[in-house]
Amino acid sequence: MLCANSNLCLNSYLAATATETHQARDKCRVRTRATTRIEMEIGGLDSNGREFKSADEMWREEVGDSQKKLDWYRNGVGYWQGVDASVDGVLGGYAHVNEPDIKASEAFLNTLLTELVPNGGRNQHLVALDCGSGIGRVTKNLLIRYFNEVDLLEPVSHFLEAARENLAPENLSVSEEHKASNFYCTPLQEFTPDTQRYDVIWVQWCIGHLADDDFVSFFKRAKAGLKPGGFFVLKENLAKSGFVLDNEDKSITRSDVYFKELFNQCGLNIYKLKDQKGFPDELFAVRMYALTTETLKKVGGSRPKRKANRPAIIK
Ligand SMILES: C[S@@+](CC[C@H](N)C(=O)[O-])C[C@H]1O[C@@H](n2cnc3c(N)ncnc32)[C@H](O)[C@@H]1O
Repeated sequence: MLCANSNLCLNSYLAATATETHQARDKCRVRTRATTRIEMEIGGLDSNGREFKSADEMWREEVGDSQKKLDWYRNGVGYWQGVDASVDGVLGGYAHVNEPDIKASEAFLNTLLTELVPNGGRNQHLVALDCGSGIGRVTKNLLIRYFNEVDLLEPVSHFLEAARENLAPENLSVSEEHKASNFYCTPLQEFTPDTQRYDVIWVQWCIGHLADDDFVSFFKRAKAGLKPGGFFVLKENLAKSGFVLDNEDKSITRSDVYFKELFNQCGLNIYKLKDQKGFPDELFAVRMYALTTETLKKVGGSRPKRKANRPAIIK
């Protein structure tokens, strides 16, 4: 993504365009048809300032046939193949956001584990999947401390190799009960997790590489990879409205409305969301969504009660 000052941060997945605010505003609307099907007409921009009337128009151009789709994904991965396997590399030159990012993620994760996992996860064998893991930054700084096993999924092999090194037992300061288990060199659109393996599937700063249809089919498949009561955390950049297409790294930044429409199509509920604080102004806003496969109702501020028709465990 391009940022407000292009000398400062060309080609950063994290950075926002200055023009986005003005040109894309008010272009997004959700239309409910009489048929109850919700259809989005979301206008957007690309990183050269070109306007699209709708996401459909953009997707037709970018992934409208099988060759185009192949090119979209090849160019997306190709972009990252040219990037240094370092924190600064995966953060588009913004290594200093690592600390506030991890801090906010940890607070969010703590709340979720307390509220959603029996006994806050204590005395349980917890397993997480880190999607689009890059060099394992999120796993190393956060997930490995909370989960007994973390699997990593990353299509760029030199990133995954760096992750393997960064997460080797001798380079970790966690007990032997915590380890990085599987390293999958696969893109999200081709991945199907093992059934009911994960307590948490963490998807950070990579879902913008997926076209809408692959976004929806990934989450639908991944739902089966969650243990009962498991959940997703999606942490992503937010466009102020509509979308912003990055022509160089082949990713799109979606708005909150756009995400909500896709979550709806995936059959996912937003259990909680939280905005990232403390990032430089020129970056896109960043939001964390906790997504569940069933609607959980908070009762009296205590642990949320699952819907009555959920099979219960007889003790
Ligand atoms: C901005 S980096 C973020 C890495 C990591 N999530 C983090 O927060 O440190 C984006 C990552 O998405 C990965 N990526 C690109 N296309 C992908 C795809 N189709 N499926 C999964 N990951 C992808 C890139 O290789 C890169 O590691």
